[in-house]
Amino acid sequence: MEQNIESHLKENRLFKPARAFAKKARIGSFEEYRKLYRESIEKPERFWAREAKELAWQLPWKKVLEWKAPDAKWFVGGKLNVSENCLDRHLDGPRRNKAALIWEGEPGEKRIFTYQQLHRDVCRFANVLKRNKIKKGDRVIIYMPNVPEAAIAMLACARIGAIHSVVFGGFSAESIRGRIADCGATAVITADGGYRRGTIVPLKQNVDAALAGKTTVKRVIVFRRAGNEIHIEEGRDVWWHRELEYVGAKCDPVALESEHPLYILYTSGSTGKPKGILHTTGGYLVGSYVTTKYVFDLREEDVYWCTADVGWVTGHSYVIYGPLANGATTLMYEGAPNWPEPDRFWRIIEEYAVSILYTAPTAIRAFITWGDQWVKKHDLSSLRLLGSVGEPINPEAWMWYHDKIGGGRCPIVDTWWQTETGVIMITPLPGAIPTKPGSATLPFFGVDPAVVDAKGNEVPPNVGGKLIVRRPWPSMLRGIYGDQARYRKQYWSEYPGRYFTGDGARRDKDGYFWIVGRIDDVLNVAGHRLGTSEIESALVSHAKVGEAAAVGRPDELKGQGLVVFVTLKAGAKPTPRLKEELRAHVGKQIGAIAKPDEVRFAEALPKTRSGKIMRRLLKEIAAGKAVTGDTTTLEDFSVLAKLASPEE
Ligand code: WTA
Repeated sequence: MEQNIESHLKENRLFKPARAFAKKARIGSFEEYRKLYRESIEKPERFWAREAKELAWQLPWKKVLEWKAPDAKWFVGGKLNVSENCLDRHLDGPRRNKAALIWEGEPGEKRIFTYQQLHRDVCRFANVLKRNKIKKGDRVIIYMPNVPEAAIAMLACARIGAIHSVVFGGFSAESIRGRIADCGATAVITADGGYRRGTIVPLKQNVDAALAGKTTVKRVIVFRRAGNEIHIEEGRDVWWHRELEYVGAKCDPVALESEHPLYILYTSGSTGKPKGILHTTGGYLVGSYVTTKYVFDLREEDVYWCTADVGWVTGHSYVIYGPLANGATTLMYEGAPNWPEPDRFWRIIEEYAVSILYTAPTAIRAFITWGDQWVKKHDLSSLRLLGSVGEPINPEAWMWYHDKIGGGRCPIVDTWWQTETGVIMITPLPGAIPTKPGSATLPFFGVDPAVVDAKGNEVPPNVGGKLIVRRPWPSMLRGIYGDQARYRKQYWSEYPGRYFTGDGARRDKDGYFWIVGRIDDVLNVAGHRLGTSEIESALVSHAKVGEAAAVGRPDELKGQGLVVFVTLKAGAKPTPRLKEELRAHVGKQIGAIAKPDEVRFAEALPKTRSGKIMRRLLKEIAAGKAVTGDTTTLEDFSVLAKLASPEE
């Protein structure tokens, strides 16, 4: 497919940073952004060295970057420890007794850890790891609910140089088994259970199933969270709280090479088994530190809440490592956004006076369908900045977020990045870059992205193409664990020497990036390549639509016919007339070629546990086929059953 992706959705609204916000911001004008950006591209080593020096190094680096595509080494010769930077570094001054972590459990418990307390708990648990013969370089699976102990386990691994691999608590026993086998993990840290929508997820039971038969795992450490009954395998399983009785609170952070692996995080591609994305110590820490500082423009007094689960990369970089490296107060919530009622998020924001909220478009669209009355019940005036990540945010969802949640006064940072990139790559800086709803705007410092055609040439403004990155950045993945050949093929072979993101995008005349999503999500309707996200955005811009998913189905005439699945807002009636109205609406927004051949109403859409719509399943349903593909990442199976037997 040599043809370019066409982009039809035009968005003309522009929001300039408010003067009051800009005045206090670290980067307070567009000129300042441009100047620093230019330096970061022309003199990257100078830029990154200056930033990295703000962190604690046990041994200074000799060379900022060694680059032999596709292998990068950052801060070569330097030694440091991530947990020392996230904890010890803050203990000498007034941050010592500042809240590092605020946590709320789904049933309602509240816990607050100061930096001093979190440091002590991490040191003690690091001693538990040592006591259980876990050492530097060992791979440790963390399969936990979104509780402080998940963060403590990660930081404790980092403290002794063990490599953690967090597996999202919603994944199945099979998924855990596959990941253990792939990385040769010798230990698992888990909990008896975790709470999700009022029920207990049997985490330990899943671990038991994953370990049945032959396994490399010798030790399982179990945190008591839900109090549900579990099996304890003598000689293999130990309780977290019991182990603590045997250890002290002194544990020096180990000095680690800058390129020492920090973690492996598995991410699924559209084909093949999950890839173990490898991140290392120095570059990743510098990247998460710097992006959190500038993108969220953190202030000492902020209460910062990133709603991601620690099981995702966003939970790694922006719940734990980035905020803690900055000495921020980071909030963690265990459960579902609509438990016990759809106002749980707004309740939390009011309760803790959250000032920065970083969440996903899928959540925002769900809130829209649940209705504004849930938002209106709460005082959200503590908020000063909003963020979005995970998928393209539809302009109408952006506007709702801006008006209803941000009260029209909070800048929105729509941040584009990936598990592979480790940290935010394309994003507005809230005091400097004017935003356009639906655009991630401009590259972060040191990031050199471009939109190119099949031959690798940059395409003109407003022409769609593939998104690549032309030079290395500190937090880039260092490989796919155990499979460097796949690493090269997947990311570096399409455009030799340059990183291929797998995403489609266009730049407008101002150089702003508009990400249209994964290349695999592109449809070809009568010779036009359309990004599914544009069609979905057009639908979501209709007053009655909350969420939409567009997929292709085989069509003899057009190559692909367009089927859209639509979830209506609370109160809207699914009628044949509305279907017609929606077809016409898309036609008007994008053009006649994008008019859906079929509109199907759905109560809910099938999503992965990280909130991405599973278009692959919808495609099978749209084509009238039975769903055959892998559904292990599906959030809610009942959705699928309802879709397969449509209403009417
Ligand atoms: C998509 C999540 C548009 C994109 C951090 C990317 C986005 C994939 C955005 C990575 C955004 C993420 N606008 N698309 N702001 N953020 N994406 O690895 O397709 O779970 O390649 O990392 O999500 O997903 P991942």
